[in-house]
Amino acid sequence: MKILVIHGPNLNLLGTREPDIYGSITLEEINRKVCNLAEELGLQAEAFQSNSEGAIIDAIQEKDYDVLIINPAAYTHTSVAIRDAIAAVDKPAIEVHISNIHKREKFRRKSFLSGVVTGQISGLGVEGYLLAVRASQKLLNK
Ligand code: DQA
Repeated sequence: MKILVIHGPNLNLLGTREPDIYGSITLEEINRKVCNLAEELGLQAEAFQSNSEGAIIDAIQEKDYDVLIINPAAYTHTSVAIRDAIAAVDKPAIEVHISNIHKREKFRRKSFLSGVVTGQISGLGVEGYLLAVRASQKLLNK
């Protein structure tokens, strides 16, 4: 069973990007933790990061996976196209945000994805990704 983890724009800068909001963990460290946990649970995880909306949509459409974990970053608040891609592939999907988007600026409180994903985890830092991996296992065993 395969999990695809997609990280959207600017998440490649984690570690140095606004550490007061996103912490000091790097994307590489997050991916390592995610892959290790997936392996412990008998799953496979692949991580993909892009700053480009089209590349994210191509990954959603073309990669081989059973569950999607996605932090769409700023595209959360703008992208009908990513929402439509998730709806089109019709696979379980979990939206993750490192920060609590509902506690921040008004424009971040709206997610275009929340209506098509299985669930959303927001504000728990790297733990959010790990909870999403555990939830993926449950979704796959259903
Ligand atoms: C984010 C929240 C978004 O509003 C922001 O644009 C990001 C990261 C998060 O993980 O908290 O880039 O998705």
